[in-house]
Amino acid sequence: MLIVANWKAYVDTLAQAKKLLASAKRAARTKGMQIVLAPSSALLGLLSVGNRTKVQFAAQDLSAVTVGAATGEVPATLLYSLGVRYSILGHSERRAQGESDASISEKVRRALTVGITPILCIGERDRDEDARYLAILKAQLGSVLQALSPKEREKIIIAYEPVWAIGKSADDALNASDLAEMSLYIRKLLSEYLPENTARKIKILYGGSVEPSNIRTLAKEGRVDGFLIGHASADPTSFAALQKALAP
Ligand code: PGA
Repeated sequence: MLIVANWKAYVDTLAQAKKLLASAKRAARTKGMQIVLAPSSALLGLLSVGNRTKVQFAAQDLSAVTVGAATGEVPATLLYSLGVRYSILGHSERRAQGESDASISEKVRRALTVGITPILCIGERDRDEDARYLAILKAQLGSVLQALSPKEREKIIIAYEPVWAIGKSADDALNASDLAEMSLYIRKLLSEYLPENTARKIKILYGGSVEPSNIRTLAKEGRVDGFLIGHASADPTSFAALQKALAP
């Protein structure tokens, strides 16, 4: 099970970050549990440099620019050199700031070029009765995958995050049977770009109000390989409760 803790801007002190890191290190010792922390960029290098633990680090975003005159951008090569091996890309909170499918696609390619695994977020804003949201997911995924070579496509992780379920509570999250359906649908989309046996191996995560009270059922019945967790991963008590809920 892959757990990606998206700290967003919730974690705003080094002390809190260290507490969460200590808890993540304990959790990462559990068999079958892979923990990736995604702190904000100011904390990222502080935590990832010289990291020798099983915990790995993700950027919350990265820049498609290479190097040079680009104030405020964080180059992918710098992230890689600091030990960062994953990057969340196309998160709905970045899309809401104007990020387009085209720029996300560019960032995904940039990440892969330097050896960073993209965690590509896709998800509909809301659900309509005519199921047009399925076409939205297809377009979001297609715009990235069609620009990649078959070898590159194998390396990405998909995070399905319905925007309407983000930042709420477990009661508002997608339920496990709907998640299982969505996971099958995403795998079907993947098989349009990859051979069936490879498409089966791509990791699919779910994100959107995953909390200690729903993570176990979602993990058991949701047909996903892990979770991208926001608010519940940024508080030491609920982060520990999430780990406990997943324990065998
Ligand atoms: P949430 O956020 O767990 O707070 O809903 C998930 C995400 O946006 O990645």
